[in-house]
Amino acid sequence: MTSRPDKHDPLTLRLLTQAVHAGNAIDPGTGAVRTPLVLANSYALPDDPSEISWSGTDIPLYTRNSGVNQLALQQKLAVLDNGEDAVALASGVAALHAVFFTFLKSGDHVVVADVVYEATHRLFTELLPEKYGIEATLVDTTDLAAVRAAIRPTTRLVHVETPANPTTRITDIHELALIAHKAGALLSVDSTFASPLLLRPLDQGADLVVHSLTKYINGHGDAMGGAVIGSRELIQQIKSDAMIDVGGVISPFNAWLIMRGSITLPLRIRQHCVNARAVADVLDADDRVAFVAYPGLASHPQHELARRTMPNGFGGMLAFAVVGDSATQDRFVSNLRVITSAVSLGHDESLIVHVGSTAPRAAHWPEEFRTNGHLRFSVGIEDPADLIADLRAALDATFAPD
Ligand SMILES: Cc1ncc(COP(=O)(O)O)c(C=O)c1O
Repeated sequence: MTSRPDKHDPLTLRLLTQAVHAGNAIDPGTGAVRTPLVLANSYALPDDPSEISWSGTDIPLYTRNSGVNQLALQQKLAVLDNGEDAVALASGVAALHAVFFTFLKSGDHVVVADVVYEATHRLFTELLPEKYGIEATLVDTTDLAAVRAAIRPTTRLVHVETPANPTTRITDIHELALIAHKAGALLSVDSTFASPLLLRPLDQGADLVVHSLTKYINGHGDAMGGAVIGSRELIQQIKSDAMIDVGGVISPFNAWLIMRGSITLPLRIRQHCVNARAVADVLDADDRVAFVAYPGLASHPQHELARRTMPNGFGGMLAFAVVGDSATQDRFVSNLRVITSAVSLGHDESLIVHVGSTAPRAAHWPEEFRTNGHLRFSVGIEDPADLIADLRAALDATFAPD
């Protein structure tokens, strides 16, 4: 059967081309131009399998080690983030847990950003300390002196999210990597909010990048997945410890869906950035809006850092609140007609969620995020004029005199 001639080195291609081609190959069995969905969970062994490593991950063997669709997706993710290898798992949280489980043990210490996704916060403040004796210090990672001060002789990992969920805080990965490496620790960066199109943490000195594939990389709100990208050596450790022997693997179908969704990632990200910018400007100029946090606005506390470290765009995530109490935020959301109230982010459609301020992690958010709760807004790829009209109509309805 036909196979694609090896006519290019994928690493020399630009991201737009890699998003289409990386990880894909003409199927040797059928000639299909797209890697087919292979649901089989085990693959035929050679005549003499005695030399096969049962913990091998490089050839299709058993889906908890390596399957056709999982291998294709991993290859693509490694290329997009400029890593040597990637491991794809069942969800973003499975990917985060895989990093912590693989590289930490009892008595180790972690410096973790104080603004992170809910599950990461709980892992470091409750589950890992209580169950496994892993200590964590939560710090504002924009304060490099505070990060330095938090380092201990037992610090093995520095973990940060940038842009951070939900405040969109930006951290200087390069500076953080210098601090972590001086202490002999690894730096892992959850860059789910940015996607590899806007931020490639490995290029800025990080050791590991974590993505919830559920978000921008899949982009269509119909599959869950997570990934870690890094050097061959570190990723192999994760595959061996946290994938094969803990088992949170991605299903072939989800790997296939995410592979397909990721083809349009550059186009979608471009539109997310344009739309979020347009929406942020409109909200920022409206007196009925209490605050807007978007890294692209000059008022964002790390706007200059964002310009420097995310030169291709500021992403599709923003946070804001309307003037008024918590009930007013809810009334505003219920007046929206195009924008859907739902959790998750990075989908093609716009999603908004009223985030309250009672969760323990909220104590680390700036005052304006806590006063009456805030709205986390994942700006979709619809026509921005329709999004702006929807927001304006909802503001008018919310603030209409009785
Ligand atoms: C920054 C970040 N990391 C990780 C996750 C977890 O991803 P998943 O829902 O795929 O487990 C999320 C989910 O919202 C997130 O926002």
